[in-house]
Amino acid sequence: MLHLSEKPHFIYTCLMLLAWVSQYVSLSTGFELNHSLTYIWPLPHELTSGNETLTVNPTLSLSLIGKGGNFKILREGFRRYKRIIFKQSSGVSIFKNLRRIRSIYDISQMRIIVNSDSDELKLGVDESYTLFITKTGGKSTAWEAIIEVNTVYGALRGLETFSQLCAYDYTTKSVQLSKAPWYIKDKPRFAYRGLLLDTSRHYFPVDVIKSIIDSMSYAKLNVLHWHIIDEQSFPLEIPKYPKLWNGAYTKWERYTVEDASKIVRFAKTRGIHVMAEVDVPGHAKSWGVGYPDLWPSTSCREPLDVTKNFTFDLISGIFSDIRKIFPFELFHLGGDEVNIGCWNNTPHVKQWLKDNNMKPKDAYKYFVLKAQEIAISKNWTPVNWEETFNAFAGSLNPQTVVHNWLGPGVCPKAVAKGFKCIFSNSDVWYLDHVDVPWEQIYNAEPLEGIDNESKQKLVLGGEVCMWSEMVDTSNVQQTIWPRAAAAAERLWSTKTALSAGNDTVLHRLHYFRCLLQRRGVQAAPVTNYYARQPPVGPDSCYWQ
Ligand SMILES: *[C@@H]1O[C@H](CO)[C@@H](O)[C@H](O)[C@H]1NC(C)=O
Ligand SMILES: *[C@@H]1O[C@H](CO)[C@@H](O)[C@H](O)[C@H]1NC(C)=O
Ligand SMILES: *[C@@H]1O[C@H](CO)[C@@H](O)[C@H](O)[C@H]1NC(C)=O
Ligand SMILES: *[C@@H]1O[C@H](CO)[C@@H](O)[C@H](O)[C@H]1NC(C)=O
Ligand SMILES: *[C@@H]1O[C@H](CO)[C@@H](O)[C@H](O)[C@H]1NC(C)=O
Repeated sequence: MLHLSEKPHFIYTCLMLLAWVSQYVSLSTGFELNHSLTYIWPLPHELTSGNETLTVNPTLSLSLIGKGGNFKILREGFRRYKRIIFKQSSGVSIFKNLRRIRSIYDISQMRIIVNSDSDELKLGVDESYTLFITKTGGKSTAWEAIIEVNTVYGALRGLETFSQLCAYDYTTKSVQLSKAPWYIKDKPRFAYRGLLLDTSRHYFPVDVIKSIIDSMSYAKLNVLHWHIIDEQSFPLEIPKYPKLWNGAYTKWERYTVEDASKIVRFAKTRGIHVMAEVDVPGHAKSWGVGYPDLWPSTSCREPLDVTKNFTFDLISGIFSDIRKIFPFELFHLGGDEVNIGCWNNTPHVKQWLKDNNMKPKDAYKYFVLKAQEIAISKNWTPVNWEETFNAFAGSLNPQTVVHNWLGPGVCPKAVAKGFKCIFSNSDVWYLDHVDVPWEQIYNAEPLEGIDNESKQKLVLGGEVCMWSEMVDTSNVQQTIWPRAAAAAERLWSTKTALSAGNDTVLHRLHYFRCLLQRRGVQAAPVTNYYARQPPVGPDSCYWQ
């Protein structure tokens, strides 16, 4: 009897002890801001800060100066960032005595000076900015935020940085900006800082793509590589060949021309390019659902039929149509994983190869080069996956951008031959590899193995790839974030900034993940063994 009654009590005591211990453990590892660190992600190139804490007026006004000061992109961007910064301070308290309406704030004005009168978004567009948080001078005690830029896109980057300096303070119920005065002079290390999104393996609704674009802008990524179609589905409307999107999974999982244009326009307002990909001649099985003539035979449905003029007429038609949607000068032609064996097993293709004195690998080259010619004739710069370079570098158009993925060491070879290159080594920068920890992503260096400075310039940058076999709307953001942020800092910040110890970076990455969460991005815990897994137990965002 005694035994039985004591046992639950013993267990209860143990549980209490455990609860007390775990509370103690949590508290002792609590997140404190370290004032010698800068909680801006990615880290700016150059900065100085002070030690004053300022309040920011929720009715922060904007004064636009310079030739490009009146662009809609800028005014909309400012309003968007105000909504982000003052999210919590706009509500009205039902408890009158808890309302704290201040009449005096330290910062009530932002001045943005834009030198260029162009809002064209080209690769390498000037994204630099200088941000000052400084006293207005004279007798006034007021402060001012000033952003000086060459283009509106630099201004957007500056606004992002400003927004990261601001934080809502729950005690004073106002937005505060600490460590003022600030002087930040910043610019990206690489012009191309990409994220691939694959909408063929799973379809993503337009609003989901927009929210991904928004989240990219928080980490200053600037290229959405839209892998629109692949062998599994063809979701995009092509007016000249209206049966192509019969290859969509269903009639609801499709993008109209207007949808695609909307995505491109939306991205532009965030300073983000959209690079479309039409992957040929492999990865194209879905095309034949609407146009079975594209299949060499019913048992050989890809690569596309290299023998028919129809194949190239159709490719030319697709490119003409989508050129109107995608103004970005880079266009991705795929060219990867082409299984040429099945061409050789198809009698009419085999005959054509014989007539043209080609082996299947020659026909692969013929196809890729023909597609390149068509893309170039539409005033596009062709991007191809590295297999094309590995197989026939000498024949590729010299404008070709080689897109690495098969492992390390390809960009050094590509730039040695004078080609431009994009780094996406799949060992580290494929986000669908959920067992790759953030440190490996962070420490992958696009310029590794390239010492010559003029060759280094040929590396446009890099891209993390969100292949979507195992993601859809239900888990895409937590697979992208926070690990894509590790690549984003690698691509933006100086090598010196990047050499801080992993502990420091981890601490800042925790902070950035929670910033993403506050903005509604479903960023997963940072240190789980498998990325995107849910939290392992109750705890704060700041140390999970
Ligand atoms: C704050 O960061 C600096 C620089 O990394 C480091 O030396 C210091 O130990 C940190 N302080 C705390 C309390 O973590
Ligand atoms: C702020 O910095 C100044 C100059 O570096 C120093 O004199 C002052 O004591 C600091 N104030 C606080 C509150 O730390
Ligand atoms: C295919 O195109 C080539 C080159 O433009 C042309 O010479 C040939 O006659 C065309 N073949 C057919 C069957 O139309
Ligand atoms: C770097 O590459 C450029 C262009 O190919 C070449 O002219 C130059 O000699 C190289 N510099 C060194 C130090 O190898
Ligand atoms: C950080 O971690 C990576 C591997 O995860 C390692 O290669 C690198 O040397 C570490 N860097 C520092 C500064 O500790």
